[in-house]
Amino acid sequence: MTLRTADEYQRLANRRLPPFIAEYVNGGSYTEHTLRRNVEDLRTIELRQRVLTDVSTVDTRTKLFGRECGMPLGLGPIGISGMLARRGEVQAARAAEQANVPFCLSTVSICSIEEVRAAVKNPIWFQLYVIRDRACMVDLIDRAEAAGCSALVFTVDMPVPGIRYRDFRSGMSGITGWRASVRRNWQAVRRPGWAFDVGLAGRPHRLGNLVKVLGANSGLEDYVGWLGRNFDPTVTWRDIEAVRARWKGPLIVKGILDVEDARTAASVGVDGIVVSNHGGRQFDGVRSTARALPAIADAVRDQLTVLADGGVRSGLDVLRMVALGAHGVLLGRAWAYALAAGGGAYVTKMLWTMQRELSAAMAMAGRTRIADVDRTILDR
Ligand code: GLV
Repeated sequence: MTLRTADEYQRLANRRLPPFIAEYVNGGSYTEHTLRRNVEDLRTIELRQRVLTDVSTVDTRTKLFGRECGMPLGLGPIGISGMLARRGEVQAARAAEQANVPFCLSTVSICSIEEVRAAVKNPIWFQLYVIRDRACMVDLIDRAEAAGCSALVFTVDMPVPGIRYRDFRSGMSGITGWRASVRRNWQAVRRPGWAFDVGLAGRPHRLGNLVKVLGANSGLEDYVGWLGRNFDPTVTWRDIEAVRARWKGPLIVKGILDVEDARTAASVGVDGIVVSNHGGRQFDGVRSTARALPAIADAVRDQLTVLADGGVRSGLDVLRMVALGAHGVLLGRAWAYALAAGGGAYVTKMLWTMQRELSAAMAMAGRTRIADVDRTILDR
């Protein structure tokens, strides 16, 4: 099997995707400082090399919310990932199942909860945004429950969408109607592989979970504009309590970057948090998740499951995040690039590679179980 790094998948993805989709995945907000720092801060964390400790059996398995996973990671929610490959969310969920790691479906996915759930045996996680139409939100929670979703990931770091210049330059945002169609179709015809696989065979292109509210409108014509108009900036901690009251399974709040917010999350009875700055797509200039994680983990790790995302591009990065205090990580762009580069088969390869990278890195750090990975493996 060919081993590829996330950077290689990214290059392949950029060659395959029309620019308006590629830039949407690659991009962050403002000058993309935080996006870069997520990757750089994590990648430059140094580890201690330990020798002669018998690392003949390294076990990367761990439990997340009561379920055993092949490694401490899951595929995090990515909006419109069904535009990266034909019925992309279904393909990615199958790859996650094969690797025995959780898959989290975005509210703003192309494939609906029901379509993805029907394609896999294990339950998926569902990510919920705070949308203005509360009846729709309640309906989504009920659908997630009916589909047997095993965790609800409530994203709180998007009261308004980030200012993303790339989307305006690429034709993803800021234009609608025939101008948008001409621009995007022109990009698509120059990517014939994508145009056939996704543009034609991957239909329908609509936000599958929101068909009831969107009616005839697919939601994709002005996708980022739609996010801006429909996400609710009035949201507060009381909304978390309301969701908590309705959703009985594990509830995970995604988008915590501050210790005080982490403590509040613990006090309102959620089961987990994701230390996240939304992949640098929201508030540029905030600290990287690798820098934010240790203090948050120290404050709440005993009470909550702490997940982290941002900049994780290899199994070695997974080990770094766990050493910094995370119980597990969510992958974002890493799986998006693999999916765009070669569909679910490439997501499977990417996860296979990550598992081996993690296992080899644990061996070199002298640790054979995830439970034994902590800050003592860091070279500080
Ligand atoms: C949506 O979640 C986005 O970051 O674009």
